[in-house]
Amino acid sequence: MRIGKQDQAFTAIATSDADSITIRGQDLCRDLIGKIDFSEYFWLLVLGQRPSDKQRRILDACLVAIAEHGLVPSVQAARMTLAAGPDAWQGAMAAGLLGMGSVVAGSSETAGRYLAELLSAAEKQDVSLEDAARTSLEQLKAQRRKVPGLGHPQHSGGDPRADTLLALADSLEVSGPYVETLRTIARLAPDIMQRPLPINVSGAIPALVLDAGWPLEALKAVPLVARAAGLSAHLYEEAMRPIGFIMSHNADLAIAYDGETATSTDEAK
Ligand SMILES: CC(C)(COP(=O)(O)OP(=O)(O)OC[C@H]1O[C@@H](n2cnc3c(N)ncnc32)[C@H](O)[C@@H]1OP(=O)(O)O)[C@@H](O)C(=O)NCCC(=O)NCCS
Repeated sequence: MRIGKQDQAFTAIATSDADSITIRGQDLCRDLIGKIDFSEYFWLLVLGQRPSDKQRRILDACLVAIAEHGLVPSVQAARMTLAAGPDAWQGAMAAGLLGMGSVVAGSSETAGRYLAELLSAAEKQDVSLEDAARTSLEQLKAQRRKVPGLGHPQHSGGDPRADTLLALADSLEVSGPYVETLRTIARLAPDIMQRPLPINVSGAIPALVLDAGWPLEALKAVPLVARAAGLSAHLYEEAMRPIGFIMSHNADLAIAYDGETATSTDEAK
């Protein structure tokens, strides 16, 4: 079995001894607790350096934008899990986070990778960003695949979170190649896909944080950390005023059984 070469037995994130805890080269109790806010700390943890003020504001805005959006599938999964197992908050939280995939809630990573692919294709093929985007969108159309970062089941006229995030990036002068790529696909997609396709929050988040310097490989962390906060609110509310079984019961009412009828004992003989 090949598991890949692992020849660097190091971690650069944290260490501790009997008297102190060091995080990314800073003393947790002396330098960080009470002196750094959570978005700044999140950036420091992941990247190993404190963010600039603009980087902190961009990450913070993205976390606020994606933390909560009502009774979406991942929230329903979490609340129904808590209703069935009130002693398992961590299980219910995990159930919610597990549902954050490439279709809704967790789709920032897919969209960010797509933006990066388009930028790299334009560079490698020595074509304009517009040409690389057009070629890619035409391929997606031919393969009947969806454009990551565009479209929304509810905000079909435009996702207000995306518009607010993009305006913030412009005002902070953080908008760079990723925001430009996102705007390019949003401009071309409606004609090629033959339907209105506004930028959604999961398109705006990766564009903003990648332009701010966040790594592509850690994109998934942004919606996951943010939704952990939203799920906390839902799990607390579920504990105080439960609706988990109402949702479960309504799913049962909404979905009809169309499987085979059980053979009666007489017929089976
Ligand atoms: C979010 C999403 C699931 C919402 O979809 P929806 O508006 O409910 O639309 P449906 O999935 O029912 O699709 C309706 C039609 O629009 C098309 N469509 C929807 N989003 C599309 C997209 N991003 N690119 C291309 N076509 C799209 C579908 O292919 C479908 O076409 P058809 O009628 O010819 O089969 C969808 O836009 C999507 O998958 N987007 C990409 C993933 C993403 O960015 N998710 C983050 C959401 S915040």
